[in-house]
Amino acid sequence: MKKDLLISLAQRHSTPFYAYDLSAVATRVNALRAELPVQARLFQSFKANPLPALAREVRVNGGRAEITSEGELRAAQEAGFTGDELLYGGPAKTEAEIAAALKAGVRWFSCESWVDASRVSFEALNARIEAQVLLRVNPAEAPSAGLAMTGVESQFGFDEEMLLTTARPDLGGIALRGVHVYFGSQIASREALVENTRRALGAAERVSTKLGFQCDVVNAGGGFPWPYGNDGTTPDLAGMRADLEELWQACPFNGQAELWFESGRHLVASSGTLVARVMDVKQSRTKCYIVLDTGIHHLGGMSGLGRLPRGGMTFYNLTRGVTGDAMTCDVVGPLCSPLDSLARGILLHETRPDDLIAIPNVGAYGLTASLIGFLSHSAPVEIAYRGSEIVSVLRLHTGHGTD
Ligand SMILES: Cc1ncc(COP(=O)(O)O)c(C=O)c1O
Repeated sequence: MKKDLLISLAQRHSTPFYAYDLSAVATRVNALRAELPVQARLFQSFKANPLPALAREVRVNGGRAEITSEGELRAAQEAGFTGDELLYGGPAKTEAEIAAALKAGVRWFSCESWVDASRVSFEALNARIEAQVLLRVNPAEAPSAGLAMTGVESQFGFDEEMLLTTARPDLGGIALRGVHVYFGSQIASREALVENTRRALGAAERVSTKLGFQCDVVNAGGGFPWPYGNDGTTPDLAGMRADLEELWQACPFNGQAELWFESGRHLVASSGTLVARVMDVKQSRTKCYIVLDTGIHHLGGMSGLGRLPRGGMTFYNLTRGVTGDAMTCDVVGPLCSPLDSLARGILLHETRPDDLIAIPNVGAYGLTASLIGFLSHSAPVEIAYRGSEIVSVLRLHTGHGTD
């Protein structure tokens, strides 16, 4: 952690702010690509963080973009991605967003059901464009995943059994080109990631054979893990390339199809640090509260409603380092809700009002996964830097007043 840089940013921009180290993004993209088969393509999942400066870094290091909304599309364009470098996915795509995506040059869509595919078909026919479609499949085999999205009942994708037993509708304007499987997030080990890829390839083979289309793309998803908001150990993926190459060589699509992967947190989480100011240190009866100027509206842990690994966060005191005795405390934010807590019952060393606190590994599912509208506080500024150079400074607009 670049302590001096963060302190000087706090003096220039005031707290709270997110600081993103672009060189960390480049390192992670290149390290992950080095563990995937040589020909594989890697897509950045914008849902983890759509900040254009980060995405630009992914792009110049050979990545593409997986997007799910018009806002993510605009961010991808801002980052320099062209339409053919984008995969548009997600459930409940509206006619307007499909039309806008087609107009912007997007050709690849991941469809979650025949209703979803029929909307893509309708808009593609309207635009006289052929959309290239991946069917998102929920394989019958359950995966090994932190947050399982397949092998169980799910709102995502086509159940594999359904595709294998029912006829496919005749839809114009689209070409079925491949299969997309997303087993879940935070897959715990290299072995599980490889096993999931094997299962994705199996599902792609069964589905494309039954539906009678040539499978040109297998998007095997990802789920590559990274710690969230703490300095926990990062997974060792060394050796994954050899295992995946072996699978790919043995697979009937080898030589004919492209193998795609997508990743959010693994690429961008390590780049981000949230820096906040201690506004108050309060004792209430038996409990000590450290009150920050940031909370679940800036670091909501996906929903801000219980997903946050409370107690699993790391708080570095930039002002004071590690001094004094450790005390048990709750770290809370400025919102008028007892739910606004980043950690409960954790041990922190001496902490005083006006100290600067840094939370590491929050470059993914940080600001845009938070309750940023709640209580209408300003969004924290987002600062992207490389070395000592500030590359971009951006603040999301919040609140209902006019500027
Ligand atoms: C379909 C899909 N792809 C990619 C991702 C990104 O996951 P992660 O950030 O864990 O890589 C998600 C996350 O929910 C997802 O649902």
